Amino acid sequence: MTKKVRIGLIGLGFMGTTHYRIYGSLPDAQVVAVADINPARRRGDISTVWGNIGNFDNSVPFDFSQVQTYASGLELIQQAEVDVIDICVPTPWHKEFIVAALAAGRHVFSEKPLCRDLGQMEEIVAAVKASGKFFNVGLCIRAWPEYRHAQQMYRAGKFGALKCASFRRLSPTADGGGAWENWFCKFDLCGGALLDMHMHDADVVRYFFGPPKAVTAFGAKGLRSDCSVDHVVANYDYGDGTLVCAEGGWGFEKTVPFEMSFIIQCEKATIQLSHTGYKIHWQDGTVASPQVSDPALPTGWHQELAYFVDCVKNNTPPVQYQNLAEVVDSFKLIMAEQQSVDEKRTVQIKY
Ligand SMILES: NC(=O)c1ccc[n+]([C@@H]2O[C@H](COP(=O)([O-])OP(=O)(O)OC[C@H]3O[C@@H](n4cnc5c(N)ncnc54)[C@H](O)[C@@H]3O)[C@@H](O)[C@H]2O)c1
Repeated sequence: MTKKVRIGLIGLGFMGTTHYRIYGSLPDAQVVAVADINPARRRGDISTVWGNIGNFDNSVPFDFSQVQTYASGLELIQQAEVDVIDICVPTPWHKEFIVAALAAGRHVFSEKPLCRDLGQMEEIVAAVKASGKFFNVGLCIRAWPEYRHAQQMYRAGKFGALKCASFRRLSPTADGGGAWENWFCKFDLCGGALLDMHMHDADVVRYFFGPPKAVTAFGAKGLRSDCSVDHVVANYDYGDGTLVCAEGGWGFEKTVPFEMSFIIQCEKATIQLSHTGYKIHWQDGTVASPQVSDPALPTGWHQELAYFVDCVKNNTPPVQYQNLAEVVDSFKLIMAEQQSVDEKRTVQIKY
């Protein structure tokens, strides 16, 4: 393919506008069509978009004069001449658009978490398998430079055996922000901080250390939502007593800064991502600050989208970061955490 990869983007909220900006910075990508049910957003007015990370200036409207706009995602899928459909709508509509886009012969990039239950997940897996098209998912932390660097070093044995690890993701509340119909605060639509945000860290635990046998999770429900787990602390059991845990929550006041961090203790080093940066504290007392970020592709969002565009352009199936089976297993892990919170007990994970 010599031309740019043509993208049709569905959903112009926090993630959709983030993806739109990133595609605009990629030499091989061009967003040629967008869809949103919100007419102001279709006109390029993104002033009500709210997100918990990044410092985007949403007061500056997008210029859609060269972009086809649709009120319906299905119409975009059926009518727009695109190579890729990128799905950034709220979770309950991921499946409908994924299945329709694959059936229309498009490659699909979808935001996580893909669905609200395992039955819907099975439909997605079947549609992906039947289509033969490329499919990738926005579990962006696997592609986030510091996480990826640490994971590759750990997996290559550079740090020695794991002693203990802790991952955190804390966010100001989305309640009353610019999200569509305040959907982050509705359990049936969103699944709470547990599914929508902490899934990144549950997935990263698997990315680093493989599948845990069981999980014990404690959660605070209804801090901002109707009845979702808005804050969770989970302990992952690998059967050998190693302490691996993750904490995620979005019940905090709006002025609380977003935090994503980890600290991993291994035989030969402590690896830490914190507000002071990404550092490797070696056993001999030296402290390294590896420069892992590429200024052109500074975040995991940039990395994952640039990679997918590259795969489509070169007709190379995407294999990097994760495959669908891993996404399904991370989803099952989150469902086990929900069960553990609900039933106040340790849950064995069935893969
Ligand atoms: N990977 C990440 O770091 C990350 C971060 C935030 C959100 N997300 C995911 O991205 C998705 C969207 O989240 P968001 O924060 O952008 O939400 P949002 O509420 O900010 O934006 C959703 C947009 O979709 C539009 N919309 C709603 N229903 C629609 C429909 N049926 N058809 C077309 N448009 C529709 C809304 O008008 C809105 O513009 C979610 O699945 C969320 O889990 C991922």
